[in-house]
Amino acid sequence: MQLWKGRFKKELSKTTNDFNSSISFDSRMYKEDIEGSIAHATMLGKCGIIEESQAENICKGLKEILADIESGKLMIDMEAEDIHTFIEGELTARLGDDGKRLHTSRSRNDQVALDIKLYLKKEVVNVSNMLKDLVKVIADKAEQYSETVMPGYTHLQRAQPITFGHHLLAYGEMFLRDISRLNDCLKRMDEMPLGSCALAGTTYPIDRNITKELLGFDRVTNNSLDGVSDRDYCIEFASCLSIIMVHLSRFSEEIIMWCSWEFKFIELDDAFSTGSSIMPQKKNPDIAELVRGKSGRVFGDTMTLLTIMKGIALAYNKDMQEDKEAIFDAVDTVKMCLTAFTPMLDTMKVIGENMRKAAAGGFINATDCADWLTKNGVPFRDAYKATGELVARCIELNTDLENLPIDEYKKICDVFTEDVYNAISLEQCTMERKAFGGPAPENVKAQAKRVKDLLNKD
Ligand code: ARG
Repeated sequence: MQLWKGRFKKELSKTTNDFNSSISFDSRMYKEDIEGSIAHATMLGKCGIIEESQAENICKGLKEILADIESGKLMIDMEAEDIHTFIEGELTARLGDDGKRLHTSRSRNDQVALDIKLYLKKEVVNVSNMLKDLVKVIADKAEQYSETVMPGYTHLQRAQPITFGHHLLAYGEMFLRDISRLNDCLKRMDEMPLGSCALAGTTYPIDRNITKELLGFDRVTNNSLDGVSDRDYCIEFASCLSIIMVHLSRFSEEIIMWCSWEFKFIELDDAFSTGSSIMPQKKNPDIAELVRGKSGRVFGDTMTLLTIMKGIALAYNKDMQEDKEAIFDAVDTVKMCLTAFTPMLDTMKVIGENMRKAAAGGFINATDCADWLTKNGVPFRDAYKATGELVARCIELNTDLENLPIDEYKKICDVFTEDVYNAISLEQCTMERKAFGGPAPENVKAQAKRVKDLLNKD
């Protein structure tokens, strides 16, 4: 059923109706559509644009429709043009003339903008809460593994010793930034567009502040053209979601590597791993791989939104109906990823011995050896060169800095004493990295606490 019958003599063809219809993907906003309509009708009644009794009737009817949809008594008609049409049509079928008054001083253009905002405002909070759960797991694990030494990498080459807790908290920082980005996005989208009508506002004496208050928005949109043609909030939210996926994907990549026999730093719980149909020995990190793969979908959704919007003249154009599938898919995907990722991380087994073993190889303490010389008066550049020669000598003798005899040290630089062995022990190397922001266990514990306090604050 179309609402715009009067002008037309013929029925819409079935194929055109299917092509034009958005109900298959906008029906999920039925609650927001009804909530918006209740606020609108209440405002119309308060401003004397319709009778108060008519407004009450409309609100009662809308609440009944909501209850009937939720109980399954009323099925949403998938032949309808969109969710707005369906609900208004159902209201009119139930109330007659009063139902027909609901759309006074409103257009589907401001209605749909309102519905999306109401829907997304909740989803921003949902995603943010899921991220908080993830950061909590990260902080707990960081505390638990604040003393677990592992190699830190650059170029995927062992570089300097760090602690596993410190490595985890790096992701904690990323997700905290994501939470703060979502907060900003929420603040910006908290503007109520209803009252923009089709594009040019209205001649009715509406009070947009009443609707704004009823719907819990911070403020009303300032320009009717912008009010109906703005989708920045979809693009901005999708961008936030894309950055979240970058972080989840990088984390997944590391988890995949850490699970491999080459690393074996962690083992994922059976409940979050899969097997191979042919290779009986396999235990695959499919969840992490899927999360890494699904990042592509979310980036694609963001690009879809940007492309939809870039060429449309003001104000509403039907292109904008394409916004919903993209933003909903991005939201659904990120939520799905987080639902799987957080418990996967929470249940992983950490194999500290293997991390330590890996940290013991690769001359990871060479910087500390050079630093020891520097602290004993040798200029850093000379110390760096001497240590390079030591490493070369170790390779020749097939040994490492810990086991190279002191004579060999002295041959290269006579400042060396036995004390150097203490400075280059892995535990010492990590413990001493206590400049603010570094991997020393005491720092990691303090940072984990800071993160947890931050989470507990809101
Ligand atoms: N289903 C439409 C959408 O999602 C609702 C707005 C329709 N407005 C219009 N002028 N045809 O964008």
